[in-house]
Amino acid sequence: MLEKIILRRCLSTKPPTMRAWVSENGAGVELKEVAVPVIKKPGQVLLKVKAASVNPIDVDMSQGYGREFLGTWKKVEACDFAASRFPLIPGRDCTAVVEAVGGEVHNLAPGDEVMAVVPVIQPGTHAEFVVTDSKLCSKKPDNLSYEEAAALPYVASTAFSAFSVARVNQKNAKTQRVLIHGGSGGVGSMAIQLLKAWGCEKIVTTCGKENFDMVSKLGAIPIDYAAENATEQLIDHAPFEVILDTVDSPLAKWSDNVMGVWRNCVHVSIVSPLMREMDKNGVPLGLATTALKHFERAFQSHLRGRWFSYAFFMPNSDLMQQLSRFAEDGKIVPIVEQVMRFEELEKAYEKVSQLNGRGKTVIEFD
Ligand SMILES: NC(=O)c1ccc[n+]([C@@H]2O[C@H](COP(=O)([O-])OP(=O)(O)OC[C@H]3O[C@@H](n4cnc5c(N)ncnc54)[C@H](OP(=O)(O)O)[C@@H]3O)[C@@H](O)[C@H]2O)c1
Repeated sequence: MLEKIILRRCLSTKPPTMRAWVSENGAGVELKEVAVPVIKKPGQVLLKVKAASVNPIDVDMSQGYGREFLGTWKKVEACDFAASRFPLIPGRDCTAVVEAVGGEVHNLAPGDEVMAVVPVIQPGTHAEFVVTDSKLCSKKPDNLSYEEAAALPYVASTAFSAFSVARVNQKNAKTQRVLIHGGSGGVGSMAIQLLKAWGCEKIVTTCGKENFDMVSKLGAIPIDYAAENATEQLIDHAPFEVILDTVDSPLAKWSDNVMGVWRNCVHVSIVSPLMREMDKNGVPLGLATTALKHFERAFQSHLRGRWFSYAFFMPNSDLMQQLSRFAEDGKIVPIVEQVMRFEELEKAYEKVSQLNGRGKTVIEFD
């Protein structure tokens, strides 16, 4: 394929093109023929995408979410006041075959099969080719198909970044008691597995009744969030050192009450108002209103020596290496709810936007 691209480049003045789902202005995506991205910095690799997961953030970004913050970032990065977040290609992770490597890449070669994540500021993986940093790629586990492995990187990176904020890691997970709100979803089910792979012994999770079986098999104790006595059940399992919230429900807010007191316990939520506040009010005012909301949310906790924080998806090279190892050892298994074709992306977006996933929705490429 690389030879074909180079040959086409030599024969024509037009840059090589690929099919990609593009959001031109934040009003949804359309399938377009666009230029294949190019390696611009040392350490980057060009990947031919084989499968990619679909996440709520992709749907949101295609509809303009993050326009202010990411637009400002683009302007600063490009030193160009006219630079814009659009057009953008969504998609934050994939499995892929390395097509070409840039300078200073020593860990990968063309033809390698990888799992990868792509930072939010870069064109994403809902396209035939993508460029990312070689450090954000890791070996595709041999025991998994492209579609299965594509279900892992984004949700694992998000769970890992939330646990980093909560100061939970491979060394101390064994002694932590963790409550996860939304354990049956993409991020929640991965968070349970990551904790289990780190040796954590007590994980309680809220989820719908129909998902009890699934989360129990992963090693968590399920509690039906709709049960009348959900709070009593949580009290029975208390205290928790860490709470991971992926739903932002009233029960999740209430659950501050089942955290330990004056023991540096942390409630971390991945449902943050930051981007929406900045989209609504601009960057400076958005930062200020989010800080205010954070203060309101955290104040009562602080009075009892507890912490509250938001967390965000952050690509991390250590996590990518751990993920490959854990998946090959069978300690982390992908939970794929549905595989759709690349051409069916809009249907996949419709499904994922409903936020009632039982694992991941993945798109496959020819
Ligand atoms: N900050 C970040 O960087 C970041 C990164 C990733 C995701 N997120 C956000 O995190 C959220 C979850 O993402 P996801 O990919 O895991 O979504 P998902 O796969 O659709 O999962 C959502 C889960 O929440 C469960 N749920 C719904 N209401 C609930 C409640 N009241 N209590 C407990 N569980 C409930 C659903 O289970 P049932 O079907 O059983 O109801 C579903 O399994 C989204 O809002 C997403 O935007 C943020």
